[in-house]
Amino acid sequence: MKITKICCIGAGYVGGPTMAVIAQKCPHIQVTVVDLNEQRIADWNDPNPENIPIYEPGLSEIVAEARGRNLFFSTEVDKAIDEAQMIFISVNTPTKTYGKGKGMAADLKYIELCARQIARVAKQNKIVVEKSTLPVRTAEAIKSILDNTGNGVQFQILSNPEFLAEGTAVTDLLNPDRILIGGDTTEEGEEAINALVDVYSNWVSRDKILTTNVWSSELSKLTANAFLAQRISSINAMSELCEKTGADVNEVARAIGMDSRIGPKFLKASVGFGGSCFQKDILNLVYIAKSYGLNEVADYWEQVIIMNDHQKRRFSNKIVQTLYNTVADKKIAFLGWAFKKDTNDTRESAAIYVADDLINEQAKISVFDPKVSKSKMLNDLDYLETRTSQENIKALNSFENAYEACKGAHAIAILTEWDEFKTYDWKKIYDSMHKPAFVFDGRNILNAKELESIGFVYNGIGS
Ligand code: NAD
Ligand code: UGA
Repeated sequence: MKITKICCIGAGYVGGPTMAVIAQKCPHIQVTVVDLNEQRIADWNDPNPENIPIYEPGLSEIVAEARGRNLFFSTEVDKAIDEAQMIFISVNTPTKTYGKGKGMAADLKYIELCARQIARVAKQNKIVVEKSTLPVRTAEAIKSILDNTGNGVQFQILSNPEFLAEGTAVTDLLNPDRILIGGDTTEEGEEAINALVDVYSNWVSRDKILTTNVWSSELSKLTANAFLAQRISSINAMSELCEKTGADVNEVARAIGMDSRIGPKFLKASVGFGGSCFQKDILNLVYIAKSYGLNEVADYWEQVIIMNDHQKRRFSNKIVQTLYNTVADKKIAFLGWAFKKDTNDTRESAAIYVADDLINEQAKISVFDPKVSKSKMLNDLDYLETRTSQENIKALNSFENAYEACKGAHAIAILTEWDEFKTYDWKKIYDSMHKPAFVFDGRNILNAKELESIGFVYNGIGS
């Protein structure tokens, strides 16, 4: 089947950038991204491409090029489903907050709603592509919903997990390490796989397009995230040991990373990983393992999350202890709120948890993040339900620039590794602070010697 019309349900961090790149690279395919969230769609359609709802380097240029040509954002979900030969499901799959599997399992209600909507609307055969990250064997559930419409429409279900990382979404999409496509081993299944392979082959070389059975593809996505997060928790575990022994975690990471069997990536010790996926996907993996009675497997992976929670708490504890065991009424300036640099996404950001701990100790938090608004920060804190919104408003303030945020602070904590933090006039910042002036560098991005020579008391991670 030659694909000329694609629909993507879900205009989020994955659906938006992924479809923008498909549209840019396949001008012969009409790509329509739909979402129930009217504001989100309105933002994607903002006449000024700089105002699209997701900040990713290079994305606004691609949207500017393809939007209105063969890339469309719409709230007309039924129409887009009806017209498309291939439908990507790219909706959120958060951790369940209720019922069986609460706090662990993936909540598949949005996925099921999509499947039911497709089943209701489709009048012709369609290929349905799981783009969201899903528990292994979800395709089975989707298939059972789609196969029971009684109207004779045939569906093929493919798994095509997304491996992009936020902040580098565009380059990851343009030059992926691999594209993974899982499908049925039947003739129709292989036809569907080939149709999707053809889409990607417009810009990805064939040797990077991997095809597998559906279950391997679904499970590979959870496995990849578990392995990546496991490396961070491993190096973070070592960072604590480094602090006790006089070893330096940056040096240790470099030394082990040069072993080609280990490799240098994802060995950066930090205040803890954040983001919408690592924790959610590992908890989901743990839940799946437990549901098969594989308790050792479950415990092994759960430790990655336990270590990460410990690392975040350790960071806030260290701030309190170093500031003479009290931060009550002290101003602590946060540089960064996003879960990593070059994104405006704050989901599960370590900053939220560190702020929450410090506010419990009655600190006043003043934040500067180049891409995150104050209302988003307050929403993040409110979501934890530790205290009332009014109390959060009193405890957290946000500033338009870093110098204002740091003025009169007792300590600065670096929560996100934004490049611009390295270029600041740190002497000017020092002069505006209470003394002794402390820096807690949760990302090890600043030059410790330079800061110490200015007069700062510098604390990094793992040294
Ligand atoms: P997101 O929350 O940014 O976007 C999901 C969108 O789907 C929302 O705008 C929501 O309104 C919409 N939606 C939900 N139900 C809908 C429905 N029935 N009809 C129409 N729209 C609906 O989520 P995201 O970050 O893009 O993640 C989507 C999936 O991709 C998740 O499974 C996630 O695990 C996976 N993933 C995310 C990333 C990432 O970097 N964020 C990377 C790889 C994979
Ligand atoms: C991650 C994976 O890298 C993607 O491949 C995957 O597609 C995605 O999850 C997903 O499934 O959502 P993302 O969370 O966007 O991407 O960003 P990462 O670069 O992986 O960073 C995650 C967190 O780990 C950030 O808080 C980051 O600061 C932290 N991190 C990363 C470290 O603390 N140390 C490192 O060495 C690397």
